[in-house]
Amino acid sequence: MSLDDFPRYPLTFGPSPVHPLERLSRHLGGAAVWAKREDVSSGLAYGGNKTRKLEYLVPDAIASGADTLVSIGGYQSNHTRQVAAVAARIGMQCVLVQENWVDWPDSVNDRVGNIMLSRIMGAEVRLDPAGFGIGFKDSWKQALEDVEARGGTPYAIPAGASDHRLGGLGFAGWAREVEQQERELGVFFDTIVVCSVTGSTHAGMIAGFAALEDAGGRPRRVIGIDASAKIDETRAQVERIARRTAELIGLERALRDDEITVLEGWAGDLYGIPVESTMDAIRLSGRLEGMIIDPVYEGKSMAGLIDLVQDGTIAPDSTVLYAHLGGQPAINAYSALFR
Ligand SMILES: Cc1ncc(COP(=O)(O)O)c(C=O)c1O
Repeated sequence: MSLDDFPRYPLTFGPSPVHPLERLSRHLGGAAVWAKREDVSSGLAYGGNKTRKLEYLVPDAIASGADTLVSIGGYQSNHTRQVAAVAARIGMQCVLVQENWVDWPDSVNDRVGNIMLSRIMGAEVRLDPAGFGIGFKDSWKQALEDVEARGGTPYAIPAGASDHRLGGLGFAGWAREVEQQERELGVFFDTIVVCSVTGSTHAGMIAGFAALEDAGGRPRRVIGIDASAKIDETRAQVERIARRTAELIGLERALRDDEITVLEGWAGDLYGIPVESTMDAIRLSGRLEGMIIDPVYEGKSMAGLIDLVQDGTIAPDSTVLYAHLGGQPAINAYSALFR
């Protein structure tokens, strides 16, 4: 088996753009930093990393005879918003369980940004008071049962489309895409920095780059930055999905432990709550590059990148690729931070 043996339903415009962050690189005074932009790679509701993952789940959903995509996330989940967009795009219904993952005081947290977009796109949004967790929940099972009870056929997509057999394939494909873009641009990214929470983005990259390395490609580091503040869970999930995805795409060896790197230190104490380094990273990206990142995910991974470049962990002669995974709509629920 290889990645090409899995059907893919195109939802993106094509390869996501890659561009240098020249002013940010100069400011940091070390490695050359580039970005690859999952936030602007499709026309579906402001995009993001889930769109690429869903390209491999949609054929499975269609083949199963489903007529309703069912998924779960926090109130400001980017994932559920992308599921709503994809359901609209392929003509399916959508039911979303939105849990209270973040104890965030903004009075419009359950009304603006992602959740508003999901409602606009016709998804049935079910608010649930349950807290943060990436496992399987009763409210989610209930949603599946309710779809069946009214005569529909649900297709279950777990949080972040991660704990799903096909969840890692999209970003295994991302690795191949990077290699192609490197050839076109005449550049080599020795280090990739990516935000990790439900795990299949980072895990897919690990599997994809391992396959490229085995095919003769140059080795490189894929550094995951935890944004869940539950490092042990994130690490375990990334490792599990990376190994599963590697097997699925026909890697003929076990992944080495040194291929699975998830770092902690920038998540703060809680998922969804920005800390000072998050805010600094958001302002720096905005002011130097006009590049917007969010307080839940990319602000934390960018904070990690900034420190790793500045303390030399990422060497000055490195060329780094920052995976921008989207997430900007959530920023509307954090307006008080920027007043
Ligand atoms: C903007 C953004 N960045 C990063 C992530 C983390 O990706 P993953 O859940 O695949 O680890 C997510 C989703 O959880 C996201 O929406």
